[in-house]
Formats: sequence, structure tokens, C-alpha cells
Amino acid sequence: MGAISSTFLTLLSAGDHIVIARSVYGGCYELLTTYGQNLGFEVSFVDATDISNYAKEIKSNTKVLYAETPCNPTMRVTDLYSLGQLSMKYGQQIKVVVDGTFATPYHTRALNIPGIDIIIHSATKYLGGHSDLTAGCVSSNDKSFLSKLTKTMKLFGCILSAYDGMLLMRGIKTLDVRMQRHNENAQYIAEYLSTHPFIDVVHYPGLTTHPDHVIAKRQMNNGFGGMISFEVKGGAEAGRAVVEHLKLINLAVSLGSIESLICHPASMTHGMVPSEVRINAGIKDGLIRFSIGIEDKEDIKKDLDQALEYAKPFIVSD
Ligand SMILES: Cc1ncc(COP(=O)(O)O)c(C=O)c1O
Repeated sequence: MGAISSTFLTLLSAGDHIVIARSVYGGCYELLTTYGQNLGFEVSFVDATDISNYAKEIKSNTKVLYAETPCNPTMRVTDLYSLGQLSMKYGQQIKVVVDGTFATPYHTRALNIPGIDIIIHSATKYLGGHSDLTAGCVSSNDKSFLSKLTKTMKLFGCILSAYDGMLLMRGIKTLDVRMQRHNENAQYIAEYLSTHPFIDVVHYPGLTTHPDHVIAKRQMNNGFGGMISFEVKGGAEAGRAVVEHLKLINLAVSLGSIESLICHPASMTHGMVPSEVRINAGIKDGLIRFSIGIEDKEDIKKDLDQALEYAKPFIVSD
């Protein structure tokens, strides 16, 4: 969040306008609707699966277009080529900021896409990779922005400790091998879940049935990442029964680590988002987010298999 808040404080002043995906990480939503509002930022939330929604909101005071892709936890993918093209029509007036935490630089090099100005990663996740540090990363080719950002970070005390910096550098050294395994496991588990009789829907950009599969193929390299989400038949109670009976997979809010972590966004990561806003953004009560680790994929499948049996009593047969 330090990377996100420092970027906002650098790019926006009172009266400036930001257009942002409505399904962004809950903390980012809360930051803009509380502190952002107090600081006088004007915020428009849009459905980021259609770039024309951003275009419709742009005004003379718009300074930032913000996307998160793939999005937490809906796994929808924003078309970065179209978003970049839109911003280029406005020259230097508008900066495009992308949160690429789920994709990591292994899957998406957003700064190589024309019109994308700034990329943010929560390094707490895949870049660190071991759930043992909290850090963030902001990258840009815009030297003037970076020098203003350095000042913001210094004045707000948003500075990483040397020890966390060391852990992060060590984590980054294995990013590519970890991502290969995360990606292989996620594709396997997404395909397995999509054929399971107790599963309603699986959200993973690597599935050909995913609504943004074609866009994901264009802007994601080497696969589609380690995050999936899914809905168990039988709604929130069935979903809760499943996550509570897992043995290998841990119930926890973080993601992007070597161990598999699962969570229930409606009551955990997005608990602070009003329920009508959350459901409108595609985060239903029964949605489960799964950060797939680098364990043996057969062990992950076996654990899900036994836990899914606990959904049975909640499933009404037709
Ligand atoms: C997509 C995304 N961006 C940013 C953050 C915030 O990261 P941090 O916990 O490192 O502040 C999160 C946290 O879950 C996230 O999922």
C-alpha cells in the first residue's frame, strides 16, 4: 500500500481526478474513498473490462487512469494496449498506472506497452515469494515522476528496512523458477476444478473459457500466473465448508508465496468494501480466491478433492 499511496500522493492534488477499476484490491478502494476523499481527490470507479468506460469518464482535471490486472480476486484482465492508446490521446496530461501484482514482471512487462507510464507491485507477494516481508515496488521510465516519488516516500517515511530489502533481493533471484511452477500448478488445478461437479465457475485467464483469455494471451507471456478464483455450488456456506476442511492448503489472506493460501474475499480481503459495491464488482459471497503454491500439484488436487466433499450437503440437486 505504501507504493500505491506514494504514487497517488505524487500524481494527485486536491481537485484532480482519477479513473480507477471498481474491482481493485480492497485496500486501494478504501484508501481512495477515505483519505483520497479527505485530500480532495475526485474518484470515478469504472468497469475496467471495457476501456470505453475509462474514456467516458475523462475530464479536463483527469490526471490518472488506474488498472489492476489480473484483478484481485475476480481474475478479470484489463486490456493494457487499449488503455495505453487511450491515454496517449491526452499526451502528458494523463498517467496510466497499473498494479501488476498478480501478473508479476515474469508474465507482464507493462512498461513495454505504449502509453503505460507506471507499474506497481506489492512485493509482499510473488517478488518476495515467501510470506516473510512487506514491501512495494514502483517502476517507471519517467525520471521526473521518479524523482518526485522519491521525495514523497522520504517525507512520508515510506522506506524499506535493510533487512527486508535483503530478503526481497534474495526472493527476486528465484522469481522465474517459482513462477514457472506456480503457473503450471494453477493451469492444472483450474482445469481440474472446471470439470468438478460441485464447482459453478472457475476464473483463470489461462482457461479458453475465460472472458479475457484472448487479451491475456496478448499481454501475458510464459503463462497466466498462480492465482485463480472459483465459486462452489451451494453459495457462501458451501464455500466456507470447503475452505475450513482443507489440510495442506492454508486459510490466509496473503498470496504469491511458495505455499498454497486460500481465502474468502467477501469476509476477508474485501470485507471493508460495502456489499453492494463488492457484488457489483463481481466479488460474490461464495467466491473463493486461491493462491496456488509450488507444492506437488497432485497433493493440492487431493486436498481440494477431499474438502469439496463437504460442500455436498449445501448443494440442492435439480
Ligand atoms: C493487487 C494488490 N495490490 C496491492 C496490495 C497491497 O499490498 P501490501 O500488502 O504489500 O501493502 C495487495 C494486497 O493484497 C494486492 O492484492
